Amino acid sequence: MSGLMQAKVLSKEAVATDVFAFRLEVDDLKCQPQPGAHIDVHLGKDLIRQYSIVSAQGSDSTTVLRIGVLKGEGGRGGSVYLCDKVKVGDILPISNPRNNFELDLIQKSYHLVAGGIGITPLLFMAERLHILGRTFVFHVLGRTPEKLGFYEEIRDAPYSDRVKFYFSGVDTPNRMDVEASFLQMPEEAQIYACGPAGLLEEIDRVSEGWPLWRVRCEKFSGAEVSCEEGEQGDFKVQLAKCGTILDVPANKTLLEVLRDHGMDVPSSCEEGVCGTCVTQVVSGDIIHKDACLYDEERNTNTVIACCVSRGEPGTALVLDL
Ligand code: FES
Repeated sequence: MSGLMQAKVLSKEAVATDVFAFRLEVDDLKCQPQPGAHIDVHLGKDLIRQYSIVSAQGSDSTTVLRIGVLKGEGGRGGSVYLCDKVKVGDILPISNPRNNFELDLIQKSYHLVAGGIGITPLLFMAERLHILGRTFVFHVLGRTPEKLGFYEEIRDAPYSDRVKFYFSGVDTPNRMDVEASFLQMPEEAQIYACGPAGLLEEIDRVSEGWPLWRVRCEKFSGAEVSCEEGEQGDFKVQLAKCGTILDVPANKTLLEVLRDHGMDVPSSCEEGVCGTCVTQVVSGDIIHKDACLYDEERNTNTVIACCVSRGEPGTALVLDL
């Protein structure tokens, strides 16, 4: 567990049905977390989960991070353990924050679209944009107010006049019409979205062909990794620094093959979500299967998430390792 820090649980609070907010105190973070960042929480052997940071406050040496955790439906072992077992005063090993979903502050205006527990990174973004006096609209989607994490906090926030709530499970539902809403957003606005797969697929469909910078989405951990026919074949990988060539058979991931040959490639989620295993590629054709890189990064063909992405069958990838 090298490189991990010890975080003390300062508080644990229910912020909706089956949603808990934890405040974690940690010393000597390498850098202050920015909106969109997440941490790995190590809950036991082979039980590492990623949680977006909802807020971060700190002095020079001590930072208090807040995370939001959904227990139950869709939640896996880690979130159930956190919500049921972890208590105030416990110590949790965590990673330094990483940011695959960075808020780009050069834009003229923003639309934030949060579905369910996808609220967590966007709440941090909304607060930052408010503090900076930036123009934004915050679209918040949930089933009911009672089931939406941080609902009361958002309802009472100083920027609440810029929040639009959409609830699908109330007596008079007001669902978001994604297509109509997106087409009304100004062309200079950048859109950040986090939520369940169905919402993000709809956003992908509606924004197809838009400039890549306009829409940034973050998928949840646990995203399904699927391979189209013909993508799951054998390929070779060459390690540029030593020249070694390895075979990656169809039934193994690139990460597994690198590990089998003694390479120390860091990883965490091993589902293509967290970005920990992203490695530089010198040459070769990549089949990207991750949910952590932006399209611009994928298009450069210079980085690969080794835990899920692969080389074109029958070809060779050269890695900067
Ligand atoms: S280990 Fe998380 S993206 Fe590969």
